[in-house]
Amino acid sequence: MSRYNYPDKDDAITYSMINDTEYSEGYWSGSENRIIQIIKKHIHGLQGSFLDVGCGEGRMLKTFQSLFSTLEGIEPDFYRYSHCRNFVRQHTWAQKTNISNVSLDEYLPDRKFDFILSSHVLQHIPTYKVKEFVADLTALAKDKGYIAILTCHSNRESSYYYLSSRDADNNSIENEADETEFNETITKPGWLPIHFFTIDELHAVCHECGLSIVETQVFHVAKNEGLKIENVDEYINSSSELKNRYGRDIMLLLKKK
Ligand SMILES: C[S@@+](CC[C@H](N)C(=O)[O-])C[C@H]1O[C@@H](n2cnc3c(N)ncnc32)[C@H](O)[C@@H]1O
Repeated sequence: MSRYNYPDKDDAITYSMINDTEYSEGYWSGSENRIIQIIKKHIHGLQGSFLDVGCGEGRMLKTFQSLFSTLEGIEPDFYRYSHCRNFVRQHTWAQKTNISNVSLDEYLPDRKFDFILSSHVLQHIPTYKVKEFVADLTALAKDKGYIAILTCHSNRESSYYYLSSRDADNNSIENEADETEFNETITKPGWLPIHFFTIDELHAVCHECGLSIVETQVFHVAKNEGLKIENVDEYINSSSELKNRYGRDIMLLLKKK
């Protein structure tokens, strides 16, 4: 059993940020859904085994379950792990699914996986463990297996950090922090530390871990980015320059050589 407690109980801080940030109702989930369809197109026909690292309450297990014959979820926070197990039990695909209450660095399975997803986890990992985290994902993938990482994207020249919370009226608070403050806040209740990565920084880590980059897409354009146009997600992914400048989140689809 893991001792880690995820600081954003019931995702209250995240929901208040989405509420304050999204342009129109439904944009946030539609933007992520576009990313999921891109991943599904690439892994179509892969079948085999799926590992969801930091599965939270299990929403991505449900999203990908029909494509795989076995599903594993790992979740270090006991409360979220328990929710996930109860959620999975309500579905017929529970019989092909196993959930473990461990963090990535505690997980020692006796097999490797065809597809590994880590959705919105890397931004909460201490900076000195980011490379180790990606290396651990790589070690768990089969040769030629796929890894998808969804995380927060820096639209600046370098990465930056927020300590995120909410006030008594449920308004989102995002205080900029330095790297030391970010690392010190990893499990502080009520404060969610967020690391925003540049594309170059993420690509460098993935290359160092021996992964090839299949797709890089940014998503979740925030209200304060001032881009209220139709098909905004297609627009911001239409050139490398725009990808660097827009989108609060990023998806990397990677392949083990
Ligand atoms: C923002 S939530 C994302 C949950 C889920 N992946 C999703 O997209 O809905 C981040 C999750 O990562 C988990 N987490 C944090 N550190 C982790 C680690 N070292 N290994 C695995 N999971 C971790 C947290 O407990 C939390 O449930």
